[in-house]
Amino acid sequence: MNPNENQNVDVIVLGAGAAGLMCAIEAGKRGRRVVVLDHAERAGKKILISGGGRCNFTNIYARAENYISANPHFAKSALARYTPQDFLALINKHGIAWHEKKLGQLFCDRSATEIVNLLLTECAAVNVRVVCGTSTDRVERNGEGFTLATSRGAWQASSLVIATGGLSIPKMGATAFGYEIARQFGLKIVETRPALVPLVFSPRDLERWGALAGVSADVLASAEAKKTPVFREMLLFTHRGLSGPAVLQASSYWKPGEAVRFDLAPGARVTESLIAGTKRDAATLKAALNGSLSSRLTAAYLEALPPAGWSNVALEEWERGLHAWRVVPDGSEGYAKAEVTAGGVDTSELSASTMEAKRVPGLYFIGEVVDVTGQLGGFNFQWAWASGAAAGSRA
Ligand code: FDA
Repeated sequence: MNPNENQNVDVIVLGAGAAGLMCAIEAGKRGRRVVVLDHAERAGKKILISGGGRCNFTNIYARAENYISANPHFAKSALARYTPQDFLALINKHGIAWHEKKLGQLFCDRSATEIVNLLLTECAAVNVRVVCGTSTDRVERNGEGFTLATSRGAWQASSLVIATGGLSIPKMGATAFGYEIARQFGLKIVETRPALVPLVFSPRDLERWGALAGVSADVLASAEAKKTPVFREMLLFTHRGLSGPAVLQASSYWKPGEAVRFDLAPGARVTESLIAGTKRDAATLKAALNGSLSSRLTAAYLEALPPAGWSNVALEEWERGLHAWRVVPDGSEGYAKAEVTAGGVDTSELSASTMEAKRVPGLYFIGEVVDVTGQLGGFNFQWAWASGAAAGSRA
């Protein structure tokens, strides 16, 4: 490719991730001349590391309720028009073996590489060019279209789709470029924050619980704010704080300074046998709690938070505490460890059916760069596919 060549296409997609590639495929199917530009040396790097290398590529129960956004209704239209079954049909067409792990979460049996290959094969079938290793210096409005100054010369198109993802995992090539373009064109941004992210203990809690690193428990977890969902998942103690699916899920709804709340023994009445029986002592309570928690967590919990006494009132109070254990984290592990970025391009700026910027015809935002963030469990890829397909139907 001649670096000084003036390259004219119909659609430029910036970002060869999940959303960008899906958009390119759909636009290519309509006969549009599409190029996908990415600064990384290869396409779909986040897909490759997702789901522990097996890519949790969708969730068959995906609905708008599984997403966080300043406008909880925004995702409905795109999710309804490109469903998990639509993506599954593509998976089956390419003979990719998959399984449901739990709660509608679909994973590849073999490797996430198969998903990237599927997307690149579909791109090739509709003559989409995927050009990696290309950095973009500038984006300019050019009449009704756009001109991009890149490390491979200037590119021009009537439609520009921004699919540069969020800020999570900067060492994998995440940049703020998508947000910068939005600002350049005067679009509002909902403040970004790390989501699906481990939380860090305060120094006092680290002293109390830090030795439990590696211990896990089956819990109910939620952020403290009202009307946030409660998740039944595993909690994992780390060297610095709390993680595991329960905490990742709650973290997306958590705000600095607030507590995260856990029911450490969902459905159990740990003190029942003590209240009904004759033995009320530390050993009996420990044995009862050990029915719900591992022995290390049982010992640490009873040491840090013993009952105030052995009366019915004291035991009932202790039981309530066990089902509403509050931790006020000092912070989160940040974008370096966050699976996704919450916030992003304000959905009030975009058409819910096409992702086109209402005030800038021809400019589209899709995937994680938009203020739509999925819960854990394949929802973020489903948003990438659905928003990508929505833009691809129009761009
Ligand atoms: P994505 O990040 O995939 O792609 C953006 C692309 O833009 C990248 O290729 C990047 O190089 C490129 N780019 C960025 N800046 C650029 C610039 N300035 N110029 C040119 N190109 C630029 N979700 C899920 O549903 N199931 C799962 O199993 C997992 N697992 C998972 C594991 C881990 C470790 C992480 C970090 C994340 C997940 N996720 C997930 C989340 C999921 O990976 C994420 O939501 C999607 O990849 C978002 O797709 P996008 O296409 O929007 O961005």
